[in-house]
Amino acid sequence: MDIFDRVKALQEEIDQFTTQDAEALEAFRIRFLGSKNIIKPLFSEIRNVPNERKKEFGQLLNTLKQTAKEKYDSTRAGLAQTTQKGGDIPDLTLPGMPVAEGAFHPVSIIMDEVIDIFRRIGFSVAEDREVEEDWYNFTAMNTPEDHPARDMQDTFYVLNDPGRLLRTHTSSVQSRVMTTTQPPIRIIAPGRVYRNETVSARSHCQFHQVEGLYVAEGVSFADLKQTILYYAREMYGPDARIRLRPSYFPFTEPSAEVDVYWGLKDETDYRITKGTGWLEILGCGMVDPAVLENCGIDPDKYTGFAFGMGIERQAMLKYRIDDIRLFFENDRRFLSQFSAAK
Ligand code: DAH
Repeated sequence: MDIFDRVKALQEEIDQFTTQDAEALEAFRIRFLGSKNIIKPLFSEIRNVPNERKKEFGQLLNTLKQTAKEKYDSTRAGLAQTTQKGGDIPDLTLPGMPVAEGAFHPVSIIMDEVIDIFRRIGFSVAEDREVEEDWYNFTAMNTPEDHPARDMQDTFYVLNDPGRLLRTHTSSVQSRVMTTTQPPIRIIAPGRVYRNETVSARSHCQFHQVEGLYVAEGVSFADLKQTILYYAREMYGPDARIRLRPSYFPFTEPSAEVDVYWGLKDETDYRITKGTGWLEILGCGMVDPAVLENCGIDPDKYTGFAFGMGIERQAMLKYRIDDIRLFFENDRRFLSQFSAAK
């Protein structure tokens, strides 16, 4: 075979080469680019080529080398995209890798549940700041500076600013809303609150509350009681029973604490209900006329009720969690135990 025909045949072989197979590609590399490749000895044939075609021959060989290299590189890049380690084509029938799903935080789960329950009877969500002015958190809520009830809630003040604090309850959103809106008002205010308390299994310096407020003409204590009963039945089941005990809050008159019947089936029930079978779930009352007046609402025309509940407490009951600190440690062994999606 003419030497030019041999070069031409090799060029065609390179141009037509295609493969999906790593082994065939390696064979191609050894044949055209390896240390004993087939192109190399052709260079020593140059001396047998007539002088006037030497240049042409040399160029053909260079093209051969060049295109072999390009073909190898592009084929290998194509293979790398579709193969896994070890150079095999992936087995497309293999099952997919499971996607690790996150779980909702128990506080979010309960919070959303509480919000849903009240939304169904016409409450809308109001949110406001956590760094709050003293006036909205305390003074407007009928708890002036010298009021003994201030001691009920140990407060974190903002350094060098006695008028500013981390809100101690979401009741602050009541005064925020009432100073800007005239009745009818029907809101719930979910959010984080802070208290300067020693952290223990039972209490924490941060936790979550949902506040409720309904102000309109003719709102009565019976409305409050029925609303709370509805909530208890939605949250704790259709047979849930509640009882209201007289209590005291500066911003409500009269005030009450609500217990839900938990039962006394085992020793734990005795322990968490202190042997009574009843568990406190929230505080509530009729909005004190002084609070309405502080916020610019006419107490002769309007009445209202309000309530406030701690979310961690409800979550601890529902999931039987016995240490409030677990909510804030972000230990995945704890968090992964709650439902992934609703
Ligand atoms: N703010 C109270 C607390 O943090 C809870 C509360 C009690 C809110 C009675 C209310 C209420 O709106 O009427 O302990």
